[in-house]
Amino acid sequence: HEVADLTGKHVLISAGGTREHLDPVRFLGNSSSGKQGYALARIAAARGAKVTLVAANSELPDPAGVQVVPVVSAQDLYDEITGRAADADAIVMAAAVADFRPADVVEHKIKKTADGAVPAVNLVQNPDILHTISHDRARPDQVIVGFAAETGDTDHTILELGRAKLERKGCDLLVVNDVSGGKVFGSDLNEAVILDRSGSALPVPSGSKDALAGVIWNLVATHWS
Ligand code: PMT
Repeated sequence: HEVADLTGKHVLISAGGTREHLDPVRFLGNSSSGKQGYALARIAAARGAKVTLVAANSELPDPAGVQVVPVVSAQDLYDEITGRAADADAIVMAAAVADFRPADVVEHKIKKTADGAVPAVNLVQNPDILHTISHDRARPDQVIVGFAAETGDTDHTILELGRAKLERKGCDLLVVNDVSGGKVFGSDLNEAVILDRSGSALPVPSGSKDALAGVIWNLVATHWS
């Protein structure tokens, strides 16, 4: 895409995987390199958009011309996304967000004890960012895109799970990734089906994360016009 068709638009993107600390050195994390979210940021900037990228624990270099806001935990990500939502014409949640965090963060590194006792970890729920920004829209004209990393289960196909998730989360578009067998995470390739609220399902065959990002921005631009 050589055309600057996203000029004048401000897009807010999340990328990477949140970390929920147990102690100063250990965390519960998500398998995300940030590549898909960074690809969305790079392509949007190349097409003329003003881009804010809220990046959770990614080691990728900052894309040129993109404002990068680093975060660690799901709560940090929630604060940055909800705080910036009113400024955004579109929000794309490509980050892998931990649904749970340890109830307590221990101040000092957890140590083994002589009696061999194993510590228990109690979890509490994190806020659902996509659900919050979709149900409590900062602007009526805003386009909100979620991702779903699915593996299917014994009773449901990946698409059935995606449809239910689109409904529950309340976003406009849901990009459903098949992550069974660990594919997608860290890879330069992705393959997805993009669902919208009218019931359509657009399959995007295996290709680069940049190519999938381009298809997503085309659909977002259609919603704006
Ligand atoms: O970073 P890469 O290595 O390139 O990998 C890309 C990816 C697989 C991480 C990405 O394409 C992807 O699918 N991201 C979403 C993964 C995910 O967490 O899916 P989910 O089904 O748990 O969440 C659904 C949606 O709700 C996501 O948009 C997520 O950002 C959002 N969410 C989830 C939980 C939560 N507490 N708040 C949220 O906003």
